[in-house]
Amino acid sequence: MPETYDELLDSTIRHLEGLKSRGVRHVAVSGETLRKLSQPPASSPRQEPAQAFRSPDVSSPRRNIPPLPAGEGRGEGESSGQMGSRAQGASLPLTSQPKISNPKSGVEKAAAFAALRERVLACVKCAHLASSRKNVVFGVGNIDAQLMFVGEAPGADEDAQGEPFVGRAGELLTKIIQAMGLQRSDVYIANILKCRPDTPGQSSGNRKPTSDEMATCIPYLHEQIDLIQPRVIVGLGATAIEGLLGKTIGIMKLRGNWQTYRGTPLMPTFHPAYLLRNQAMSEKRKVWEDMLAVMEKLAMPISDKQRNFFTRG
Ligand code: URA
Repeated sequence: MPETYDELLDSTIRHLEGLKSRGVRHVAVSGETLRKLSQPPASSPRQEPAQAFRSPDVSSPRRNIPPLPAGEGRGEGESSGQMGSRAQGASLPLTSQPKISNPKSGVEKAAAFAALRERVLACVKCAHLASSRKNVVFGVGNIDAQLMFVGEAPGADEDAQGEPFVGRAGELLTKIIQAMGLQRSDVYIANILKCRPDTPGQSSGNRKPTSDEMATCIPYLHEQIDLIQPRVIVGLGATAIEGLLGKTIGIMKLRGNWQTYRGTPLMPTFHPAYLLRNQAMSEKRKVWEDMLAVMEKLAMPISDKQRNFFTRG
């Protein structure tokens, strides 16, 4: 009966959303359940609920956005990579609208994503990285996100925790995301490489992924992007852009200029680690301008405060 199917699907979605809100990211689903959920009765074609951006809910408590150097009494040389301002930002539901080109239902998509994750976690294609890693760093965030951030590769902190962008550069990325009025859980964050590039004989430090490592790992990112289908991708730094576009063009030249990754708008910007190394206000301003362009592309509301975070004078 169609009603039964719809009720089953609705209660499954409610159950999964409940799990998700409690931090659960993966569920085991039997093949039989998946088959039943993915095949609606022919007489009741089910449409995905249309989800559009909602305006910030002014009645709900607003989140504090970390302080910005500009206009808030902070100087360039002060603590590392401050981004954002005391401007209040409201979180936006930034999830994909159903796309005709992605026939997967929410349940199928979640299952495909979980299966991909299992494959990536078990990957030993780069034997040297598989043996040196503590964790595979698959990616984190909302698999229905409209906005995706792509970085280079996990560092020591990410390797230890199994999550991208959790070290100092990650803290800065989180502040950038919050300054946009979003949370990390609103977007999806992944890297070109899922394993930390090894540094044999060194107890610390990072190295750039080799072209072989990138070529081996990039299909996983392609699969992630194909499933998520973000409306906009932000490429963080030269290696991310090289991995996504398959060509090397200096990030200084590319940043701020829209590119296209398989039909999806791609905004190249500086890697947060660069902003930590180079504390110049001018460089932070450039990244923020890139984020404003991204917000405009996504038709996100932009407050005067956000617009003027880095205005001169
Ligand atoms: N730098 C990256 O490019 N990715 C991470 O996950 C952390 C630091």
